[in-house]
Amino acid sequence: MKTLITGATGQLGSLVVTHLLNRIPANDIAVSVRTPSKADDLATKGIDVRHGDFDDLALMTAAFKDIDTALIISGEADNATRIAQHRTAVDAAKAAGVKHLVYTSIIAPKADADFTYSAIHLDTENYIKQSGLRYTILRNSFYADLLMAGVPHALETGDFGAPAGDAKITYIPRNDLAEAAAVVLATPENHINATYDLTGTKGVTHSEIASYIAAVTGKKIQFVDLPRDVHIGILQSISLPDHLVVALSGLYVGAKKGDYETVSNDFKTLVGRPPQTVENFVSEALK
Ligand SMILES: NC(=O)c1ccc[n+]([C@@H]2O[C@H](COP(=O)([O-])OP(=O)(O)OC[C@H]3O[C@@H](n4cnc5c(N)ncnc54)[C@H](OP(=O)(O)O)[C@@H]3O)[C@@H](O)[C@H]2O)c1
Repeated sequence: MKTLITGATGQLGSLVVTHLLNRIPANDIAVSVRTPSKADDLATKGIDVRHGDFDDLALMTAAFKDIDTALIISGEADNATRIAQHRTAVDAAKAAGVKHLVYTSIIAPKADADFTYSAIHLDTENYIKQSGLRYTILRNSFYADLLMAGVPHALETGDFGAPAGDAKITYIPRNDLAEAAAVVLATPENHINATYDLTGTKGVTHSEIASYIAAVTGKKIQFVDLPRDVHIGILQSISLPDHLVVALSGLYVGAKKGDYETVSNDFKTLVGRPPQTVENFVSEALK
């Protein structure tokens, strides 16, 4: 049984590899990466490092050779490009004879979500289901890690800003999502054609998050509900691509409608413990 992880030089992928190494032998693990030289540390551990890119069907098909189970970690591009890339990855897996695909989707995927990347994930989920391969869909909620981007400004000014209002979002640490993926990859036969909603233990507001930062740092930190256009201006000022600016600002529009507040128990069922709370994550990160 050989298991492959794409995007293994990325943040989630490298954590999935770490958790999978605790569960199966290194020589049962392969990775597909765009730049193999960046994965020398994995090769040293006995992992089979292969060259793959979702933009190249032939290369990706070669990367999937002799693989039983593959985790496709979603990429980063505008919607049309990414939908085509993910479809290429699925086509390549099927052509190479992969038996089971695992995919990192998003929580509550919708075609018309304000979080515009959601439509990519819905398309990829459906494409995987139509492929006829066995599958497991991991509907990941938003990374708690993303919250740390606002911390330096908060510590400097006392203001923790986001256009979030009273929205509750079920943030969950990236590391926990990686462990859940590793559990599935280590025992794919237990997760055939399953879809898991991987959320934090509760939906947290940004006021609560500000209070967590204040508690651990001892500083006075308040949540500032940014107007949407101010938030967009901040994202543009750091030169993010337009599709990312639209997606990130839309995330909060959807969150205010309640799109990302529903809590699921699937993480605990899979991993055998609840995920780290956002409060504990923030506290550990800022110690
Ligand atoms: N749930 C959330 O809150 C959240 C937040 C951010 C992103 N995401 C999604 O989750 C994914 C993983 O998150 P992350 O934190 O690990 O992001 P990351 O560190 O940016 O990693 C993204 C990975 O995707 C790979 N990739 C990009 N384009 C590719 C292509 N054309 N072919 C093959 N691989 C490609 C990258 O390869 P290289 O290593 O070669 O660059 C990288 O390893 C992201 O790509 C994004 O789709 C989710």
